[in-house]
Amino acid sequence: MTEELAFRGFEYAAAPESRAIVSLEDAYGHYVGGRWLEPSETYTTISPASEEPLAAVGQASAADVDAAVAAARSAFDSEWSALRPAERAKYLFRIARLLQERAREFAVLESLDGGKPIKESRDVDLPLAAAHFFYYAGWADKLEYAFPNRRPRPRGVAGQIIPWNFPLLMLAWKIAPALAAGNTVVLKPAETTPLTALLFCDVLRQAELPPGVVNIVTGDGRTGAALVEHDGVDKFAFTGSTEVGKAIQRELAGKGKGLTLELGGKAANIVFDDAPLDQAVEGIVNGIYFNQGHVCCAGSRLLVQESIEQPLVEKLKRRLSTLRVGDPLDKNTDVGAINSAAQLQKIEELVAAGEQEGAEIYQPPCRLPERGYWFVPTVFTGVAQSHRIAQEEIFGPVLSVLTFRTPEEAVEKANNTAYGLSAGIWTEKGSRILWMAQRMRAGVVWANTFNRFDPTSPFGGYKESGFGREGGLHGLEPYLRFDEDGGA
Ligand code: NAI
Ligand code: MG
Repeated sequence: MTEELAFRGFEYAAAPESRAIVSLEDAYGHYVGGRWLEPSETYTTISPASEEPLAAVGQASAADVDAAVAAARSAFDSEWSALRPAERAKYLFRIARLLQERAREFAVLESLDGGKPIKESRDVDLPLAAAHFFYYAGWADKLEYAFPNRRPRPRGVAGQIIPWNFPLLMLAWKIAPALAAGNTVVLKPAETTPLTALLFCDVLRQAELPPGVVNIVTGDGRTGAALVEHDGVDKFAFTGSTEVGKAIQRELAGKGKGLTLELGGKAANIVFDDAPLDQAVEGIVNGIYFNQGHVCCAGSRLLVQESIEQPLVEKLKRRLSTLRVGDPLDKNTDVGAINSAAQLQKIEELVAAGEQEGAEIYQPPCRLPERGYWFVPTVFTGVAQSHRIAQEEIFGPVLSVLTFRTPEEAVEKANNTAYGLSAGIWTEKGSRILWMAQRMRAGVVWANTFNRFDPTSPFGGYKESGFGREGGLHGLEPYLRFDEDGGA
């Protein structure tokens, strides 16, 4: 063995998950009223790791959206809203169990279509998606207890638009509470990641969900806009960019429809000098490199107490060199492909701005695949609050490191953002955790951990991160009308 090899130790052997479990159709239509509607126009969804075309998918027109809303309305009026709540729950439990049974198939498809590592789609996206259906199934027949003396009733047809970073999980976050509350649904997945939502239609068929209760239309922003503009939608839920969220809010202003928006973020992950550094490094890595940093609540700003900046950053850099970037279907992969060429371009542009504005860039040596969209896990030190990389959501594997001296300064800097979705605090001191958490203008605050999700826990933002909560009882409320709202 040469000296160099001895130093590098054992090489990983490739450990690819088999694709054989997934059988793709050549082309997909829209799922409307329990049937497949032939699309008038199509586009091709690809694997971002190889640029390989996967399937032709429909680009829904306003007429297709209209058909989907009509199917949802008819299902709501004819049977779903009047169904005994315990029966509604049975469908949700069935869906949850079917997702568990078919978890591997869904995980492989999610990684193929969206580029996320199989270890994440297998261990995070799928278990959490099933957990959301289980959790909300439990509430379906207990709404009177959950909201006592308020006579909770469904709103009607829910229009839902979701992003590409957690395709099936965002579908679950949206559909599970909507159905538990007795609504019917028209959902549009993101254009780069429609395939797990389309496979989900097969789960609905297996669960024998009545036709029209869930309708899926695919397409890009034009399809989304047609859904937003449709008069027949009673409640709207959107997760995606702040820019589109604002446009949706403008469009719906004054129409008296329910709206929840879950938008971008620029979370501070704050490490105090008494924090266990190795544990914090794992939390920082999870906070920003999980899912290639395509996470709205990502810990994209590291605020580190000045006295420990040097040892912490050194440990972090060492840890970065052990991250494995590559084939999303390889079980060893830590960081997969960037979701699309457009997202890669946005990351590259912001990273170039960081260098231009004078921050210092670090990227570990890393061999990237030749085809597909990739970005090396990146750390910027010497970042000023005015830098674009400290202000704008990069939505990629790029961390900006800033420092602070006192807890007061940490609070000021953490809150100095247009967003307010999440924050992380690392310290041994319980009293400091509470002191900090009270002062964070963020919907979720994690202490000595990061990116932890649970269906019982409400999730949502302040300021430009949006409004409304998903998860927990809070997540049911937007899908219900109450006596105090007036009307029948
Ligand atoms: P986007 O907001 O355009 O896409 C999200 C969803 O909205 C997709 O389903 C899209 O088809 C739909 N959409 C687009 N335009 C629409 C319109 N006018 N009306 C209705 N629906 C519309 O986000 P995009 O362009 O994919 O990503 C841009 C940036 O947004 C990212 O770089 C990231 O910073 C942020 N983002 C944040 C997400 C989050 O989870 N909060 C998720 C996705 C993106
Ligand atoms: Mg794709």
